[in-house]
Amino acid sequence: MKIDILTLFPNSFAPLNESIVGRAKDNGKIEISITDIRTFSKDKHKKCDDTPYGGGEGMVMTVQPLWDAVSSVKKRNSHIIYLTPKGETLTQQKVEELKEKKHLVLICGHYEGIDQRIIDHFVDEEISIGDYVLTGGELPAMVLVDAVARLLPNVLHNEESFKNETFANSLLEYPQYSKPAEFKGMKVPDVLLSGNHQEIDKWRKEQSEKLTAERRPDLLKTK
Ligand SMILES: C[S@@+](CC[C@H](N)C(=O)[O-])C[C@H]1O[C@@H](n2cnc3c(N)ncnc32)[C@H](O)[C@@H]1O
Repeated sequence: MKIDILTLFPNSFAPLNESIVGRAKDNGKIEISITDIRTFSKDKHKKCDDTPYGGGEGMVMTVQPLWDAVSSVKKRNSHIIYLTPKGETLTQQKVEELKEKKHLVLICGHYEGIDQRIIDHFVDEEISIGDYVLTGGELPAMVLVDAVARLLPNVLHNEESFKNETFANSLLEYPQYSKPAEFKGMKVPDVLLSGNHQEIDKWRKEQSEKLTAERRPDLLKTK
């Protein structure tokens, strides 16, 4: 998969060089390219924002630099996403859908957002990472890239873990423990040390259902 990220702040993306996503890039499992929108501005001062028509607070990212930036990366099979709090909220189901795309283009807004004509002409979907407002689309773009990248083939060593993780089967994951079996008097549940895999599976399923009923009963309705 190829992902093009369009931003006014290209230095924000260092976290994508770390850990699992960084390794996926190094191994060629995913190609991520960051484009600085400012380099496309035809303004003599490379300005990329201006006041909103109709008045009001703040600045809007202007149409020309973004138009040229999107045009420079867009291909026939591109799926173009604008990260915005006004978009559809990102879910694991949406991430599963996006991992099938060959080419994602992510537009990061800033200030009061971007000129609507870019959305009307280029954007296939608008995605929000949650009901709160951030200063820019850079963190949302990284959230989306991380969630998609880990699902790509051969990025995680243990793809089996997808089957039981949170949101798979509309459940939250059961509690996890590791060594030692006892720490400061706190013990790992006996069943997990029993070696009886049938009992362990039963305990995990019960824990998952209990946790989901307590915290996210809405998920059980979608089962
Ligand atoms: C301050 S916000 C603009 C908010 C906009 N004026 C509004 O009221 O909807 C600046 C940029 O941050 C990004 N952004 C902020 N919150 C976001 C969220 N929850 N999900 C995705 N992107 C977000 C968007 O790219 C947006 O253009």
